[in-house]
Amino acid sequence: MFSVAVLGYGTVGRGIVEVIMTNRKQIEERIGDEICVSHILDLRTFPGDPFEHIVTDHYEDILNDPAVNVVCEAMGGTNPAYDYSKRAILAGKSVCTSNKAVVAEYGPELMRLANENGCHYLFEASVGGGIPIIRPLNESLTPEKVESITGILNGTTNYILTKMEREGSAFDEVLKEAQEKGYAERNPEADVEGYDAARKIAILSSIAYGKTVDYRELPTEGITGISSEDFAYAKKLGATVKLFGFSRKTEDKVYAMVAPFLIFPGHPLYAVNDVFNGILVHGNTLGDVMFYGSGAGMLPTASAVVSDIVEIARNQGRRIPCDWKDEKQTLSDPGELTGRFFVRVTSCRECVAEKFGAVEYVDAGIAGELGFLTGDMTERDAKAAADAIGAVSFIRVSR
Ligand code: HSE
Repeated sequence: MFSVAVLGYGTVGRGIVEVIMTNRKQIEERIGDEICVSHILDLRTFPGDPFEHIVTDHYEDILNDPAVNVVCEAMGGTNPAYDYSKRAILAGKSVCTSNKAVVAEYGPELMRLANENGCHYLFEASVGGGIPIIRPLNESLTPEKVESITGILNGTTNYILTKMEREGSAFDEVLKEAQEKGYAERNPEADVEGYDAARKIAILSSIAYGKTVDYRELPTEGITGISSEDFAYAKKLGATVKLFGFSRKTEDKVYAMVAPFLIFPGHPLYAVNDVFNGILVHGNTLGDVMFYGSGAGMLPTASAVVSDIVEIARNQGRRIPCDWKDEKQTLSDPGELTGRFFVRVTSCRECVAEKFGAVEYVDAGIAGELGFLTGDMTERDAKAAADAIGAVSFIRVSR
């Protein structure tokens, strides 16, 4: 019997139990053993729930049960999720999680401890919800030198931007509606300021490039500064605005950032709308490969966690290699990168020419300002020029 304990009976925890019960027969065939959910840890009680008899508020019940093979941590936040994960691993129990906060902060340590204790620490659901991306990066793309990762990694902001684009509405208005419908958190800061995407691109980049990218060091810009006027210009250009987690590796440098980008219909991520996520990986011999799907939600996220359970069950007594080393990745300043930029100013064309040289003006019918696309220049120069003339908007343009 392969015994699973679930920590946290919220959205993801319930989803894990549901996925196991729905596909139990097939999962059992695939792992070659019977599977059961033996414990659920939660401080609450769940009268009437079919699993209420296995709910406990004592973590020791799980730690001290030698039958438990895998602990699924679906608590969210780092405390006590990190401590509980570590204690499970030290007791020789594998852990899988959807918790990007713990993975981004403690991933290398927990993987090392799992190796030392003959178990596993897996986190497929921590990035892209139900989209398989961790295992493909870790196992399928091993012959590649990954040169860049571009991801729409946050469903909430993608939903908001899609609505702003389609309805011409203001950010605040769409956010409020998203909160009312339960698509956005009551405290939306981690999503709208880009912090959630920063953790996710840091995790992907750490696996792809091999050293730990510290999410705290990423220049991170969210979508709170994106206005309906920006979308009016984007529409005129036949483009849209998306929040990207982006990283690039050159021969000797790694860049990583989170920021809104103007993107055109030819871009593979252009059609990733609503709460969906998309991740575009470029390998040196493979070229582009894209992963698309539900980046959040109960069952998609739970499906990814259960895929880790199956992986653990199939690899008992074996090591699952991960190229993410517990060694810090030095990050270079994305200001060095060259690209084009969309800028809005309230100053005159002469001032624009003086600071930016030749530009391509866009007429979105908005009085009292100028909107334009710059030529190729470094981000540092473009930002300095934009600051010098008090630009009201500055958005990177994706290639
Ligand atoms: N808040 C996250 C999102 C949930 O909106 O994508 C999934 O990590």
